[in-house]
Amino acid sequence: MNVKEIVSKMTLEEKAGMCSGADFWHTRGVERLGVPAVMVSDGPNGLRKQANQADHLGVNESIEAVCFPAACATSCSFDRNVMRKLGKAIGKECQAEDLSVILGPAVNIKRSPLCGRNFEYVSEDPYVAGELSAAFIQGVQSKDVGTSIKHFAANNQEYHRMSVSSEVDERTLREIYYPPFETAVKKAQPWTVMNSYNRINGIFAGESKELLTDILRDEWGFKGLVVSDWGAVSDRVEGLKAGVDLEMPGSLGTNDQEIIKAVRDGSLSEEILDQAVERILKLIFRYTEHRKKEVFDRKKDHKKAVELAKQCIVLLKNEDKILPLKDGKDEIAVIGGFAAKPRFQGGGSGHINAKQVPSAVEILQNYQKVRYAEGFSAKEDVIDQKLVKDAVEAAKKAKKVVIFAGLPDSFESEGYDRSHMRLPDCQNYLIKKILKVQKNVVVVLHNGSPVEMPWADDVKGIVEAYLCGEGAAEAVTDILYGKTNPCGKLAETFPMKLEDNPSYLNFPGTDEKVSYAEGIFVGYRYYEAKKMPVRFPFGHGLSYTQFEISNLHLNQKAVKESETVEVSVDVKNTGKMAGKEVVQLYVRDTTGAAIRPEKELKGFEAVELEPGEKKTVTMTLNKRSFAWYNVKIHDWYAATGDYRIMVGNSSQNIVEEAVVHYISETELPFVVTKDTILGDLLAHEKLRDYTKRNLMEHMGVLVADENTQKANQAAAEAITTEMQEAMAQYTPIRSLRSFSDYPNEEMEKAVRELNELLK
Ligand code: BGC
Repeated sequence: MNVKEIVSKMTLEEKAGMCSGADFWHTRGVERLGVPAVMVSDGPNGLRKQANQADHLGVNESIEAVCFPAACATSCSFDRNVMRKLGKAIGKECQAEDLSVILGPAVNIKRSPLCGRNFEYVSEDPYVAGELSAAFIQGVQSKDVGTSIKHFAANNQEYHRMSVSSEVDERTLREIYYPPFETAVKKAQPWTVMNSYNRINGIFAGESKELLTDILRDEWGFKGLVVSDWGAVSDRVEGLKAGVDLEMPGSLGTNDQEIIKAVRDGSLSEEILDQAVERILKLIFRYTEHRKKEVFDRKKDHKKAVELAKQCIVLLKNEDKILPLKDGKDEIAVIGGFAAKPRFQGGGSGHINAKQVPSAVEILQNYQKVRYAEGFSAKEDVIDQKLVKDAVEAAKKAKKVVIFAGLPDSFESEGYDRSHMRLPDCQNYLIKKILKVQKNVVVVLHNGSPVEMPWADDVKGIVEAYLCGEGAAEAVTDILYGKTNPCGKLAETFPMKLEDNPSYLNFPGTDEKVSYAEGIFVGYRYYEAKKMPVRFPFGHGLSYTQFEISNLHLNQKAVKESETVEVSVDVKNTGKMAGKEVVQLYVRDTTGAAIRPEKELKGFEAVELEPGEKKTVTMTLNKRSFAWYNVKIHDWYAATGDYRIMVGNSSQNIVEEAVVHYISETELPFVVTKDTILGDLLAHEKLRDYTKRNLMEHMGVLVADENTQKANQAAAEAITTEMQEAMAQYTPIRSLRSFSDYPNEEMEKAVRELNELLK
């Protein structure tokens, strides 16, 4: 379809109308020109297609659909294939239900465990969030259905989400909050990007040309359309100029009128409007011209949901090999309201109308007879002594106890943040009571974000099932009984307590501002730098088999900025059960050129292995793997020097290390002025000799020569040569005038000559 031609035939009113939704979920059509309306839907982990009364908070019922694991869980797969499969399944369902775009993935960084939407978000780490989201997008879009990566950008809390300004410095935005979007755009070209509600450094994301055009389109090469989050538009004309093509859900024509008025009075160029309409039409025809006949087979997709959940669940602790349970042999008591009614998804716009949700109590019957006691309600935080007593009795009689704990729906949802990081008190109380009568306790957790675990040292097993979709119970029981080998790894750190979190003092802000004062030190980047003990580290997850990672090899020992280096390791399954290991590659900058985290994830690979099998994994590192964002040049930069390559199966279990020498090909701009300090001159290859020859002598009294030292033994003892040199380091050229006869003309000449040497 020639969209340019269609645009040329549209009236101004039609074009302005095209830039907002016809209703909650549809774009507008233009019948006379053969432009159909298309429907979009949440997302991200299943379809929330609303047939009737529409809303954006998941309040009203949508069609019956399949609820796949939420991103808090799928991220733990650390497996691009898993994400691609999930994307394909959802894309197929969209085709069957005539949905042109699924509103996901949601990739905002988990800055605080309290963010109400963390269950929908991928990780605290930008690399893993970008890689996994790109794979998901590729999966969905392979079915000719679009995605909407959201919420761009720096939307990391629900508190005042539609008005708050995220105050974030440039380097932190570039290193932490933008990369999930950047990677997804560069690797997978999502059909749409959804701008967030909030402001960034005072400017609404939806009115920031820098964000939506300069960075997103010009720098990263985004080709699709930008859609506003539902109701995010403040000034429609400013938004259009900045790069918001489509306003959703629309404003019943009010903002269309603003656009028309602005074009008429010349404050908005019609070309900008035409461009937005073109992008919208392109999306519409891209979808309608590739319609596929698909069937939404809910039974079949339920099975896929179970299979996917099995790839995500994380075995956090397994002392004395309490797991797997022995089919029928162990007498088991199952305790906790979540065993009878799993919490498998979060609330808000991602809420799926799932009907096929078996409970663990039901599924466990396939394995053996179990004694079930509710112990606590899964809905509220009230200690019911009768329930506790029954549960303790059941626990006493059993050989092993499995407690299904977690966060009730009301504890975490879109629209508000959590107020603390604890489980409901009634659950912690019950777990303690059970531990008094029973040593063999396993806790299964259903939660969308980390919880404090005051009992973690006393229970023998912990299974983090997160909100892993409607197949939760089937997947969890298979793992409990060892029919499936757990393989998930945490994509976020579980701190000991909320107060340990780096954002703690600044979350969620006041006065319509939230300061991201911790900068780049988010998640493990912070805990590691502070050498702070955590409950479970980033990347952690156990298996029923054992893996050996060995034989780290780099294809070259030195790598230039323009080159890549290949890192390979062998992974072997040395145990008796087939399993999957996630090899994780971290890089540490030892150059000292900038403040950097202890290490950062720059590669990972999920590897499936039969018992005894060995595979070689290869990961490629490029400039970005070593670089940090240098605000002096507004670009990525890595200094020449040594970088450690660290490989393991958790951020806290590095088993192989090597060093690579990186050679920068970027010369940082350097201008010498009279305020330049001698240390910087001495550190510069081109200026060192000149400085030693011509400037150091002027250090006068500060640099005591040998004779002076001899003459004044006391001074020599008090101020050693090293100390003098160190002090000289911080002395500006201009101060040489204070220590010796150093006329201004001579100083200015030196500054000139030094700058000459830099040319
Ligand atoms: C949410 C989006 C969602 C949209 C439509 C908004 O409130 O922030 O994530 O896609 O509603 O339901």
